[in-house]
Amino acid sequence: MKTDVGAGRLAGKSCVVTGAASGIGRAVAERFAREGALVVATDIDADGLRRLAEQLPQSVSTVVGDVAQPDDARRMIRAAVERHGRLDVLVANAGVIPLMEITEAEAEDWDRVMAVDGRGMFLTCKYAVEAMSGGPGGSGGSGGSGGSGGAIVCLSSISGEAGQRGQAVYGPAKFVASGLAKHLAVEWADRGIRVNAVAPGTITTERVGRLRDEPGGPEYLEAIEKLHPMGRLGTPAEVAAAVLFLASDEASFITGVVLPVDGGYLAQ
Ligand SMILES: NC(=O)c1ccc[n+]([C@@H]2O[C@H](COP(=O)([O-])OP(=O)(O)OC[C@H]3O[C@@H](n4cnc5c(N)ncnc54)[C@H](O)[C@@H]3O)[C@@H](O)[C@H]2O)c1
Repeated sequence: MKTDVGAGRLAGKSCVVTGAASGIGRAVAERFAREGALVVATDIDADGLRRLAEQLPQSVSTVVGDVAQPDDARRMIRAAVERHGRLDVLVANAGVIPLMEITEAEAEDWDRVMAVDGRGMFLTCKYAVEAMSGGPGGSGGSGGSGGSGGAIVCLSSISGEAGQRGQAVYGPAKFVASGLAKHLAVEWADRGIRVNAVAPGTITTERVGRLRDEPGGPEYLEAIEKLHPMGRLGTPAEVAAAVLFLASDEASFITGVVLPVDGGYLAQ
C-alpha cells in the first residue's frame, strides 16, 4: 500500500469506513480518498469491497467482516493502526434498513437491526475510541502511536431524530446512533475525540432503489419524496460531503451534534 501524504482536507489521515461496499459508505470512502485519506474500507460484501479497492488502489485497502461480531469489529480498527500507524477517523456507517410496521415485525427482525445498527455501531465506536485514546487494543498497544485523539461520525437518520411511518424497527436503531454520538462526545471531549452524527433524509442508494420492488415500497418512496421540503431525495455524495466536514479539522470545535442532511425534512 502506498502511503504518500497527498493534498486534500483529510491529507494523510488514517480512516475506517464501515459498510463501504455500497451506498453512502462507498460514497464516503470515494470522497475521503479524493481528499487524501488512507481508507480502510470494511463490509460483509467482499465483492463490493474488491471493486472499490480496484478503483482506488492508492488509497483504499479492505477488511471483510461483520460489525456485529466483536472480533471482526476489532480487526477493522486494528487494520488501520497496523497499516497506517494510528486511527484518525471512524465513519460508523454499516447498517440494514428494513421497512415494516410493528405488526409485521417479529423479534428476529428487531434483533437483526439492533445487531448491525446498534451493537455494530457500539463495537466499532468502542474499538475506535480505544485506538484514538491509546486504550486497550488501540494504538497504545504494541507498535502504536499512543493515541492522539480523532473524529468519529455515526450514520443516524431522520428516523433517528423523529417518528416516521413504517420505521418502527429501523428507526429506534437510528436513535442509538444519535444517542451514542452525544454520549461519546461528552465522555471523550476532554481527550481530543470528537463524535458527531449525520441524519440523512431519504438518499438514492442502491438499498433505497430496491424499495421499488418491495411491497409498499413505491408508495412509500412517492410519499417520502413529497415530505422533503426540497421536493427530492438526496444523493450519497451530498451525505459524504457532510461526513467529510465533520471528520475534518474544519469541524475542530464541533462535537455531539446530529447534522441533518435532509433537504429540510427535520425543520418542519
Ligand atoms: N439510504 C438512506 O436513505 C439512508 C437514510 C438515512 C440513513 N441511512 C444510513 O446510512 C447507512 C448506509 O445506508 P445505505 O443506504 O448506504 O445502505 P446500503 O445497503 O447501500 O449500504 C450498507 C452497507 O452496509 C453493509 N453491511 C450490512 N450489514 C453489515 C454488517 N453486519 N457488517 C458490515 N457491513 C454490513 C452492506 O453490505 C452495505 O454495503 C446506514 O447506517 C443507514 O441506516 C441511510
